[in-house]
Amino acid sequence: MNSPPLLLAVETSCDETAAALIEGTARLRAAAVETQAPIHAAFGGVVPEVASRNHLHRIRQVVRRVLDEADCRLDGVDAFAATGGPGLASALLVGMSLAKSLALGLRRPFLAVNHIEGHLLSPFFGRADIPPSLGLVVSGGHTLLVGIDGAGRYRLLGRTLDDAAGEAFDKVAKLLGLGYPGGPEIDRLAREGDPDRFDLPRGMAGSGDLDFSFSGIKTAVRYLLPRLRPADAADVCASFQEAVVDVLVRKTLRALRESGRRTLAVSGGVSLNSRLRRRLAEAAVHEGFDALFAAPALCTDNAAMIAFAAAHHLAAGRVDDPGRDIQPQLGPELFSVA
Ligand code: KG4
Ligand code: ZN
Repeated sequence: MNSPPLLLAVETSCDETAAALIEGTARLRAAAVETQAPIHAAFGGVVPEVASRNHLHRIRQVVRRVLDEADCRLDGVDAFAATGGPGLASALLVGMSLAKSLALGLRRPFLAVNHIEGHLLSPFFGRADIPPSLGLVVSGGHTLLVGIDGAGRYRLLGRTLDDAAGEAFDKVAKLLGLGYPGGPEIDRLAREGDPDRFDLPRGMAGSGDLDFSFSGIKTAVRYLLPRLRPADAADVCASFQEAVVDVLVRKTLRALRESGRRTLAVSGGVSLNSRLRRRLAEAAVHEGFDALFAAPALCTDNAAMIAFAAAHHLAAGRVDDPGRDIQPQLGPELFSVA
């Protein structure tokens, strides 16, 4: 019997330089992520050109590490994949160019993977079947509710109309003088704070649809600043986090009700948030649905999730033209019309 194909994926859409080798859809042979966060922290956010230069500098070593760890030669790889977008254009080009060149040079299939699809499928990592479910993707760049009908079959149900949830965490952390990325810092400080101390707006909570808005809450925190003392930071973090989590939970429950789905798949960097995980896990018990969370290493940007999505494409016989361009914006092509 033939062994399942070995697929090497690279991810360079933002500030993580990552590679992963997967065998079939089930077995992760090796993965590596090198974060540039400390470099960008000095700027308070990701600087695109700094990111792409660092990808270029590091990607070869990251790929080498993965192949060595898996004890695999480059010519033993059966297919190459990269994140094709959405993301920073100059950063995407690094991973795409590398994967395309390897695929062309070694005459192997090439696959471009949508970064959001990588996140979306990450709670199912290792599974050959993707069950009908509701996906909540909460990351630094996106906040989406997606109906999942199977691998490659998605319907967009709701999205943020302004800031992404992670972006709100990062911007509020910056206002409070905390480090970048802000999410983990706020999560940590919030544990010592009072979530009821400040009444912050729950943007679009009652809008009757499944869209989100997080820019109002950031502005509300900005207006609070002049009357805050350093000792108030934990209470602001707890109140802010509770407001964001409240809206995410409410809309997710609404989407589950409206779509009739009984499985929730939560992914993206913000899905590491301890309060969000707790509230959704409690709601799952209360309302009788299954809540699946991506494993912590798969929440923030990584190549294992890209390899997993690509392995599903490959298994379904879907490969891409190596002439294919990057797609920096999230266009409609990932989703069929609802
Ligand atoms: O998925 P990701 O690596 O990036 C994008 O694809 O955008 O997510 C990064 C985001 C950042 O905004 C970061 O602040 C947030 O995830 N994040 C968190 C936590 N850990 C990371 N947000 C809230 N609570 C956390 N514990
Ligand atoms: Zn991401």
